[in-house]
Amino acid sequence: MRNVTVTDEIWTRLLDIGSRRRPMAPPDDAAMALYGPIASAAGSFVLAQVGQSLDGRIATPTGDARDISGPDGIAHLHRCRALVEAVVIGVETVRLDNPRLSVRAVAGPCPARVVIDCRADLSGEEGLFHDGGAPVIVIQSRDAPRQSCPGAEIIRLDCHENGIDPQDILDALAAHGLNRILVEGGARTIARFIDAGLVDHLHVAVAPLIIGSGPSGLSLPPIDRLTAAYRPQTDVYCLGSDILFDCRLKTAASNRQSQKVRVADHA
Ligand SMILES: NC(=O)c1ccc[n+]([C@@H]2O[C@H](COP(=O)([O-])OP(=O)(O)OC[C@H]3O[C@@H](n4cnc5c(N)ncnc54)[C@H](OP(=O)(O)O)[C@@H]3O)[C@@H](O)[C@H]2O)c1
Repeated sequence: MRNVTVTDEIWTRLLDIGSRRRPMAPPDDAAMALYGPIASAAGSFVLAQVGQSLDGRIATPTGDARDISGPDGIAHLHRCRALVEAVVIGVETVRLDNPRLSVRAVAGPCPARVVIDCRADLSGEEGLFHDGGAPVIVIQSRDAPRQSCPGAEIIRLDCHENGIDPQDILDALAAHGLNRILVEGGARTIARFIDAGLVDHLHVAVAPLIIGSGPSGLSLPPIDRLTAAYRPQTDVYCLGSDILFDCRLKTAASNRQSQKVRVADHA
């Protein structure tokens, strides 16, 4: 496990790499190894992040999720926001948490805010439409009723049996020049991107508290055997108050896919 220390000098370097999309020299320390791949990503890059308790919960059963991550976990999340071009969340997270999705714990730019609201359930009164923050994009189904979201851009996409295809969402955001994406939750939204094999890195930040009940951060379709589990190549970092698992998920997803194919051939 590597200790992450983000000095002002390193953070300035990372923001510079991110804003100019400059290629990065091989990382010389833990902070560059952790954040460099996000800052220097050319083309599409999807990071998913979960802040969870020791027992894998992201909220209490009543939806209280505010203080799960410790101060260094929060700073990490805000660094990730500052290095991407858009942060994506599901409609339930807007309804339950009323998040601002801004960068406050560190210096840096605020990404565009994207809400997946397939059925146009938002009323338009939610905080992010009125806080004067970064631009808001709402993704809706083409069939959804027209609902006013003050100041937001609405993108309407085809909705299939399993909802809106996450690849269609990425394509629509890329058409707006948004290629570095942070999928911040909740569990159902992250699951759809993982299931579609679109998440490059998954960050799981674990804070030392036990909630004991409540929703978990990841909820994927059930598997019968552990051989079908994702076993991503993972680097572990000590952030200070929280421990971070940085999982290279896309490689794990393609290995899992080829494993499935091999089993099918064998049978
Ligand atoms: N600790 C953390 O890191 C963290 C971060 C964010 C949120 N949270 C917590 O997570 C909880 C909310 O999570 P959640 O899983 O219930 O809700 P969510 O992911 O925020 O939103 C789920 C909703 O979005 C829809 N949706 C997402 N992707 C879609 C797609 N591709 N196409 C169509 N619809 C899509 C879902 O549709 P369906 O109904 O069809 O599935 C569902 O209605 C809250 O308690 C919040 O506090 C924790």
